[in-house]
Amino acid sequence: EPPSPRRARGSRLLLALLVLLAQAPGIPAKPSPPLWPMPQSVKMSPQLLHIDVETFYIDHGPNSTAGPTCSLLQEAFRRYYDYIFGSYKKRYDIDESELEPQLEQLQVSIALESQCDCFPNESSDESYSLLVQYPVAFLKANRVWGALRGLETFSQLVYQNSYGTFNINVSNIADSPRFSYRGILIDTSRHYLPVRVILKTLDAMAFNKFNVLHWHIVDDQSFPYQSVTFPQLSNKGSYSLSHIYTPSDVYKVLEYARIRGIRVIPEFDSPGHTQSWGQGEKDLLTPCYNERKKAEGVGPINPILNTTYTFFATFFKEISEVFPDHFIHLGGDEVDFTCWASNPDIQNFMKKKGFGKDFTQLESFYIKKILDIVTTLNKSSIVWQEVFDNRVELQPGTTVEVWKSDNYFEELSVVTASGFPVILSAPWYLDLISYGQDWTKYYKVDPLNFEGSKKQKQLVIGGEACLWGEYVDATNIIPRLWPRASAVGERLWSPQNVTDVQDAYNRLAIHRCRMIRRGIAAQPLFTGYCPKYENKME
Ligand SMILES: *[C@@H]1O[C@H](CO)[C@@H](O)[C@H](O)[C@H]1NC(C)=O
Ligand SMILES: *[C@@H]1O[C@H](CO)[C@@H](O)[C@H](O)[C@H]1NC(C)=O
Ligand SMILES: *[C@@H]1O[C@H](CO)[C@@H](O)[C@H](O)[C@H]1NC(C)=O
Ligand SMILES: *[C@@H]1O[C@H](CO)[C@@H](O)[C@H](O)[C@H]1NC(C)=O
Ligand SMILES: *[C@@H]1O[C@H](CO)[C@@H](O)[C@H](O)[C@H]1NC(C)=O
Ligand SMILES: *[C@@H]1O[C@H](CO)[C@@H](O)[C@H](O)[C@H]1NC(C)=O
Repeated sequence: EPPSPRRARGSRLLLALLVLLAQAPGIPAKPSPPLWPMPQSVKMSPQLLHIDVETFYIDHGPNSTAGPTCSLLQEAFRRYYDYIFGSYKKRYDIDESELEPQLEQLQVSIALESQCDCFPNESSDESYSLLVQYPVAFLKANRVWGALRGLETFSQLVYQNSYGTFNINVSNIADSPRFSYRGILIDTSRHYLPVRVILKTLDAMAFNKFNVLHWHIVDDQSFPYQSVTFPQLSNKGSYSLSHIYTPSDVYKVLEYARIRGIRVIPEFDSPGHTQSWGQGEKDLLTPCYNERKKAEGVGPINPILNTTYTFFATFFKEISEVFPDHFIHLGGDEVDFTCWASNPDIQNFMKKKGFGKDFTQLESFYIKKILDIVTTLNKSSIVWQEVFDNRVELQPGTTVEVWKSDNYFEELSVVTASGFPVILSAPWYLDLISYGQDWTKYYKVDPLNFEGSKKQKQLVIGGEACLWGEYVDATNIIPRLWPRASAVGERLWSPQNVTDVQDAYNRLAIHRCRMIRRGIAAQPLFTGYCPKYENKME
C-alpha cells in the first residue's frame, strides 16, 4: 500500500518541530561531534587545526612495535588518506601556508607486538585513544585492531570548510566497544551476491565499526560454496556454475575482512534449510513418505544414518581449515518435522531410542552429534535459539543466537541464566522493511534491557543485523543495509546512555553522506541533500 501523502506530510512536520526545538533560543546549541558511532569519551575544543593535503601524512610512531613491516597498517594508512582527501578536488585559490596552526602528521603507535599476520578473534582488543593537537596527532592502541578503529574515527573528524580547506578540531578521544560481537548477516543462498558486493559490504562495516561478517552461505535454495572435498555440492546445488564461491573467492573475502579487523563466521545451517545439499550428496536428506509409500520429496538431513555423520566429519574438517575463525555457525533453526514423521525408518529409530513422538529429541540427537564433530575440530559453535529451546546438551561456551521476535528479552534471561553466551538479532531483522525511519526502532533497543544479574548481562556478547536474501541481491543490498544497519552499529559500540534520537539523526545524516562519498550507495534517512561534497551517486 503506498503511503498516503497525509502521513508523509505528518512526519515532515514532526521533524521540523524537533529541529525547531533543538534550535530554540535559551537552549544552547551543543553540536555533537559528527562521529558515528559515538566514542566512549570525546573532548573537543573549538580550536581548529588546518591540514595541508600536500604535506600531511599518517605514519607509525617511534614507539610503535608494529612498524613499517606491518602491511595491514600501511594499507590502512593509504586507505584512510584516500577516504579523507581522495574525493576532493584541491582548490588553488588559497595559500594554505598562511593558515596556521597546521596539523602535520598523525602518528600511530601500537603498544604490544604486532598482530599484522593474524586474524582478529573474539577477544581482540579494539580500544584506542586519539589526541589531536598541534602539530602532531597521536593515535595509540594496544593492538592493530584498535588502530584501525581509531583511524576511522580520525577520518570522521576531518572536514572541509566552504573555502575547500581541510580542518580538524583539537580533540581528545578515548574509545572502546561496548560489545565485542557486532555482526552483519548476509545470505548468499536465496540470491547469489558477487564477491565485489561482499567486499563493498565489508567496507561499509568498517565505516560503522562492525567486526563480524556472519556469512549465511548456503540454504535450501542454492549451495554456492565450492567444497574441495565435495565439489558435487556446488556443481549440483548452486544456481549455476557461475554462481559459486571458489576457494580463491572465499580467500579474497577472508583477507579483505581481516585487514579491516572483521571476522568471518560461516554458517552451514542444518538439519533444516538443506534442500540444496541433497542434489550433490546422495542419501544425505530424509526421503519423505506419503501413505507409507516413498514419495518424490526429501526433507531435512537424515539423522539416522551413520553415513550422515561421516559426511559431516569430513565436510566440517574442510570448513574448519578454510575459515580461520574459532566459531562456526551451525544453524539448527526451523526444522520441519513432517517428513521425518512420515518416514517408517525414522519412526522405528525413534521407537528404538525411546523418543516417543517427540521429534525435538531426534533433532537434539542430531545436533549433539554435529556439535561434537565441531568440538573435535577445536572450533566453537553458534546455534540459533531453537537448539537451546529444544534442550540440546550444549558444550560450555556454545553461543546462542536469539532471533525470534516474540519475548526476546525473556529468552535472553533464560539463556544467560543457563550460563551460555548470547548474540541478539531478534529486533534487527533488516529484511523486514516498512515505510519511514525504521532505523529509530533499531536504535532504541537496548540489548541489556532484560531481567538478570550482572553476570547474566556479561554473557550478552553483542548483536547482529540480519539481512535475509529472499528479496535482496546485488541491486539493493547496499541501500537496504545502509544506513539502517548503522543504527545497530552505534547501539553495539557506543555507551549505553547514547540514546538521543534527534542527535543521532543529525550525526547519521552526516555519516550517510560520508558513506556516499566513500562509494557506499546508502539510502537517504529523510528529505535533504548532501551539502558541499561531490557525489557520484546522488
Ligand atoms: C569545532 O570548532 C569549531 C570552530 O571553532 C566550532 O564552531 C565547533 O563547535 C567545534 N566542534 C565541536 C564539536 O566542538
Ligand atoms: C615514546 O616513549 C618515550 C619513552 O617511554 C616517551 O617519553 C614518549 O612520550 C613516547 N612517545 C609517544 C608519542 O608516545
Ligand atoms: C586472539 O588472538 C590473540 C593474538 O593472536 C591471542 O593472543 C589470543 O589468545 C586469541 N584469543 C583467543 C580466545 O584465542
Ligand atoms: C552405526 O554406528 C553405530 C555406532 O557406531 C553402530 O552401532 C551401528 O552398527 C552402525 N550402523 C550401521 C548400519 O553401520
Ligand atoms: C585440537 O587441539 C588439540 C590440543 O591442542 C590438538 O592435540 C589436536 O591435534 C587439535 N585437533 C585438530 C583437529 O586440530
Ligand atoms: C553518559 O554517561 C557518562 C558517564 O556518566 C557521562 O560522562 C556522559 O556525559 C553521558 N553521555 C550522555 C550522552 O548522556
